Amino acid sequence: MKSLFNQNILCIGAGYVGGPTMAMIAHKCPQYRVTIVDINPERIAQWKSDRLPIFEPGLDEIVRAVHGRNLFFSTDIEKGIREADIIFVSVNTPTKTFGVGAGMAADLQYWEKTARQILESATTDKIVVEKSTLPVRTAQAMERILFSTHSGVRFEVLSNPEFLAEGTAIQDLENPDRVLIGSRQTESGLKAGSALAEIYANWVPRDRILTTDIWSSELSKLVANAFLAQRISSINAISVLCEKTEADVTQVARAVGMDNRIGPKFLNASVGFGGSCFKKDILNLVYICQYYGLNDVAKYWNSVIKINEYQKAHFVETMLNAMFNTLSGKRICLFGFAFKADTGDTRDSPAIQIAKRLIEERAELVITDPQALANARTDLKGVDGNVQFIEDPYEAAAGSHAIAIMTEWRQFRELDYERIYRSMTQPAFIFDGRNVVDHRKLHQMGFNVYPIGKPALTNL
Ligand code: NAD
Ligand code: UGA
Repeated sequence: MKSLFNQNILCIGAGYVGGPTMAMIAHKCPQYRVTIVDINPERIAQWKSDRLPIFEPGLDEIVRAVHGRNLFFSTDIEKGIREADIIFVSVNTPTKTFGVGAGMAADLQYWEKTARQILESATTDKIVVEKSTLPVRTAQAMERILFSTHSGVRFEVLSNPEFLAEGTAIQDLENPDRVLIGSRQTESGLKAGSALAEIYANWVPRDRILTTDIWSSELSKLVANAFLAQRISSINAISVLCEKTEADVTQVARAVGMDNRIGPKFLNASVGFGGSCFKKDILNLVYICQYYGLNDVAKYWNSVIKINEYQKAHFVETMLNAMFNTLSGKRICLFGFAFKADTGDTRDSPAIQIAKRLIEERAELVITDPQALANARTDLKGVDGNVQFIEDPYEAAAGSHAIAIMTEWRQFRELDYERIYRSMTQPAFIFDGRNVVDHRKLHQMGFNVYPIGKPALTNL
């Protein structure tokens, strides 16, 4: 029977990237049949249910519109591979925790399993697209696996890294700054690259679809994340200097960012960057540099991570110093646990490390977050301490000695802080790890306010 669709697209890995990316392709290209598969049956069941496995503004609406029309979820990976013309591989590539490169290199076991599975199940020619973030020259390893038998099936490997940020994934996918496609510079490689570009051209202007050689594409993804994280570490390093000199980091960032060559984005000083990728991708970059003997280059990029670790430790130190050098038995309320606003994701969230440090200091923790409490519970499972998870921020803050803002949720800006102040143990402290509340106003209410990179406003 002739298919209604003129192309079968498969995505292996139904995570934060695979789900939204494929939903967008299905939404913009009704002429393609898009299937997402995963080894985790629970995840697939969640994608098929009313409660999606991830919280992402705008995602529910898109998935609802296309699920069952031209977007399908399945655990049948073999069938998916057999039927696909184009296969996106979007499995996780975490930092290796064992053996050579432990703590730095990318763990490519999930990715390699996928390559072998594609080889085993494919009966027709395929374009295989690296969507996961991978070390530069991974495509060569993938090709070696895919070309290791003489089945007659031909594979073309492309690199098509994803640049979406969580919390704005739908916007980023709908209107990307660029789509990057790296291919071998052979006739078949360029042809495969054009076939992939055709998919994006359904909604992305042609001049934003950038084609490069495959190694530049792989490396650009790591470099983009490293540059973004570097800006945050740079402004965070300056924030500490501001605290010593009574300068204001927001004003410094504004003055510096107004230089066209620097630009204003990604200069918000914070308690530190989190998320599943910045640290892992920079460690990966550092490892690659070391592998090639570029030790000074490796050190340079590693310092971005060092400053981020410093920033989190410094935040806890500020709390300790301000609260008379003891947190023991004090109730501390964390406003937010997600690694950024508009997501329930807590992977590598600064809040995890800060929560653990506060527990070491024997503080009693209360955690509130509009989307991330379930993940927060999992992250702190087994940690020996007094921790409560409370959805309502007013209830969470009541009786606390201090509030520490971990995530820049809009909701936290809009709370009735007079009411919160009255319900807290006095003297009440607020440590704004995101510089999101009105510091002057809170100070006038009676709070002792400790922003990032600005003079503290105390009433003591
Ligand atoms: P994720 O952990 O949310 O999803 C990965 C999925 O792959 C999981 O559901 C897992 O079960 C599945 N999987 C693993 N091995 C499999 C196999 N052999 N067969 C089928 N399914 C398998 O990860 P993510 O956040 O979506 O990230 C995926 C990749 O995209 C990573 O390389 C990451 O660096 C990159 N990336 C992530 C983001 C982001 O915002 N999260 C943005 C850009 C790029
Ligand atoms: C980041 C990149 O922005 C994406 O382009 C990339 O695709 C993705 O990583 C990835 O490869 O996974 P994401 O981690 O989802 O996206 O979110 P960001 O908006 O980059 O924020 C990362 C962290 O930096 C958050 O903890 C955020 O709060 C923090 N941040 C961001 C700051 O502390 N200050 C800023 O000015 C900006």
